[in-house]
Amino acid sequence: MRRHPVIAGPGAQPRGLAVASLTVLLFMSCGTGPKDPVDIPAPAMPSAVPAAVLEPAADPAAVARGQLLVDRFECVRCHDIPGREPAPLEKHCVRCHQDILAGRFPAPPETLREWQGHIHHLTDVPALRGLDRFRRAWLAAWLHAPHDLRPGLDTTMPRLALGTAEAADLAAALIPDAEAAAPIAGDLERGRELFGLKSCALCHRFTGAPTIPPAPRLPVPLDDAQLQRGLAQAPDLRFTRERMRPAALVAWLIDPPRHKPGTPMPQIPLTEADARALAAWLVEVPLAPPPAPKPVQRLPLLDRRVTWAEVEAQVFKKTCWHCHSDPDFARGDGGPGNSGGYGFTPRRLDLASYTGISSGSVGDDGKRRSVFAPLADGTPRIVAHLLARHAEVEGGAPEQRGMPLGLTPVPLADIQLVDTWIAQGRPQ
Ligand code: HEC
Ligand code: HEC
Ligand code: HEC
Ligand code: HEC
Repeated sequence: MRRHPVIAGPGAQPRGLAVASLTVLLFMSCGTGPKDPVDIPAPAMPSAVPAAVLEPAADPAAVARGQLLVDRFECVRCHDIPGREPAPLEKHCVRCHQDILAGRFPAPPETLREWQGHIHHLTDVPALRGLDRFRRAWLAAWLHAPHDLRPGLDTTMPRLALGTAEAADLAAALIPDAEAAAPIAGDLERGRELFGLKSCALCHRFTGAPTIPPAPRLPVPLDDAQLQRGLAQAPDLRFTRERMRPAALVAWLIDPPRHKPGTPMPQIPLTEADARALAAWLVEVPLAPPPAPKPVQRLPLLDRRVTWAEVEAQVFKKTCWHCHSDPDFARGDGGPGNSGGYGFTPRRLDLASYTGISSGSVGDDGKRRSVFAPLADGTPRIVAHLLARHAEVEGGAPEQRGMPLGLTPVPLADIQLVDTWIAQGRPQ
């Protein structure tokens, strides 16, 4: 049986955690910057020495700036954030969809039924509670360049228009507290065994780790709704070693709802030793490198005629319209892709009508520009944005922001339709 002290020093990068934890405990006295690493056996930390700090408390000025950014980027249009007013219903992308699906929205029953059949996206997003289980440095990096965390969720965190300094300030506001080093030791082999026995893989992917099939029965009873929500919201455990503070990981495994009331992760009975063993498995098992992003293929143009009616029904009125509509027509404000929102400046792009799409969008210089004009490589701007969403889902960070923003990519065959329609001179 091997014992694994799990701890990272101030210089350890998230990915280096496993390595650092196996060998030395990097030690740092409070606030004075890194000193020479000292070998200290994890369980025998002398009480006279100040506790090691993995992440110090955030700078109050950064916290204050970050709080203002939470307002500017309108995070409450999608997320519950403790201590903050939720967005009003007419601006809340998730609450309104949930109310419609649950039949709570004030509308005639036949209208509700029709809407219910159309709404797939933005029906459930993680609440931003108990975020101090995460590393501040991870959050800052991820907000700046988000990637998919929850394979069962068809919506991802949108790539917002924020720089590294703004991402760091947001992370400071969301995770202001320091992380003190709390040594953890867990039995890796036992962790591997428990991962199967407790059916963790029923809900979770663990990309790159050895496959461990779940036991046929769940260790806790769950009704169908709880199971569906669990399946949709379970993160890929590949990222947990970068994301979570080690002590918080053990505490989370023992009692998730204590850290995040309302979480869809069930409490699975575990002893503390079992939780440490599972934590060791999650953090230390070597992972195969992630699959290389597949290049996105722009399909050749069709040799049949494509009309506005076809692309409108197939693409623009299916998804785009909800963020890019005519503010006079829509009950809302025209959507974030038209009137601005989530911190974006208004692009004034209306994709709800032929005249709307023909009038283009407003560029960074404040002037109107065509969304059909070819970029340097010849791809029409709007087609490049559609292809970019495929590249984002593949794990890339393309120059254009992927559209539809944070949602399921438009199928390549439908992008081909738009591409063909543009090449044919955009027939009505
Ligand atoms: C359009 C909706 C939307 C907006 C606006 C939005 N988010 Fe998110 N956010 C999501 C979705 C969807 C996820 C889940 C992503 C995943 O799991 O891959 C997410 C995930 C997160 C997470 C990870 C939480 C966890 O438990 O894994 C954090 C933190 C977060 N968002 C912070 C923010 C902040 C801060 C803002 C404002 C600057 C913001 N979000 C704005 C949709 C949104
Ligand atoms: C006032 C309620 C309400 C609000 C607020 C709202 N939606 Fe919707 N949304 C709807 C309804 C109703 C439909 C279905 C309309 C239909 O049947 O065509 C819908 C459909 C959609 C669709 C197409 C279906 C799908 O799931 O792909 C998208 C995308 C969408 N909404 C995105 C958003 C975004 C993004 C926001 C926030 C900026 C938002 N919605 C805010 C009511 C709302
Ligand atoms: C019923 C489905 C379900 C089962 C079974 C389940 N989980 Fe989870 N787990 C979730 C969901 C959903 C979340 C995300 C919770 C949230 O963000 O509120 C989660 C979150 C986690 C996290 C945090 C990961 C991160 O990066 O944020 C860890 C670690 C974790 N689970 C480990 C386990 C382990 C180990 C087991 C087996 C003992 C297990 N889970 C069993 C659904 C499940
Ligand atoms: C969830 C909301 C949302 C959805 C859905 C959405 N967009 Fe957008 N779109 C935006 C926002 C916000 C911007 C502004 C981004 C920026 O300023 O970088 C934008 C910008 C664009 C731009 C770039 C305009 C410019 O000149 O920079 C294009 C083109 C575009 N969207 C096309 C589409 C198409 C096509 C769809 C449907 C497949 C779509 N969008 C769906 C929110 C959305």
